[in-house]
Amino acid sequence: MNFWNERYGNPGQSYGTEPNDFLRLNFASLPKGRILSLCEGEGRNAVFLARNGYEVLAVDGSHVGLQNAEKLAIQQGVTIKTEVADLADYKIQPDYWDAVVLIFAHLPGLIRKRIHQQAVLGLRAGGVLLLESFGPGQLAYNTGGPKQLDLLPSLEQLQSELQGLEFAVAQEIQRDIHEGIHHTGRADVVQIIGRRRM
Ligand SMILES: C[S@@+](CC[C@H](N)C(=O)[O-])C[C@H]1O[C@@H](n2cnc3c(N)ncnc32)[C@H](O)[C@@H]1O
Repeated sequence: MNFWNERYGNPGQSYGTEPNDFLRLNFASLPKGRILSLCEGEGRNAVFLARNGYEVLAVDGSHVGLQNAEKLAIQQGVTIKTEVADLADYKIQPDYWDAVVLIFAHLPGLIRKRIHQQAVLGLRAGGVLLLESFGPGQLAYNTGGPKQLDLLPSLEQLQSELQGLEFAVAQEIQRDIHEGIHHTGRADVVQIIGRRRM
């Protein structure tokens, strides 16, 4: 986590204080209630969801990121819960969450598969998972995200890892991203919104 603690130790929010575009445009599809936001970073998405009436647990491996998230929550007059944890051995409570959010959570394949399976099972029936991440096509751009293919799953990989969801949105598209100083410009992204089957 040294890389992330160092990045979040720099002045300013690395990905800005505004929420991710895909989340901002689609949060209304998340049922009201408890949201688990994985790889939350410095809190821009958790704070946005809390401002919109959700009860949010923000999980990330970087304690510096989550300290910044707590400061952002105070600045914006909301409360969020935070938990520092490595997703390599994190256990998601089953049948509990109304929604799970993953925004640019670029985990190694083995960890990612396990977390995605747990994320689906962590939703209550009818709960919704919302995800945006850079896709394999992002290797052609220099606008952010990891450079290893293992960290850039395709739409097909993600759909297979997220079995148990009915997909309302499942697409790989190119879009312009301007979210802080590390995500800047045309990018290849995978976007998913899926509901756990009743
Ligand atoms: C690209 S940042 C995205 C942050 C945030 N979701 C956003 O969009 O503003 C990726 C985040 O994943 C977290 N992360 C990476 N590997 C992790 C792991 N194994 N366990 C927990 N968090 C991890 C990092 O600390 C970092 O905050």
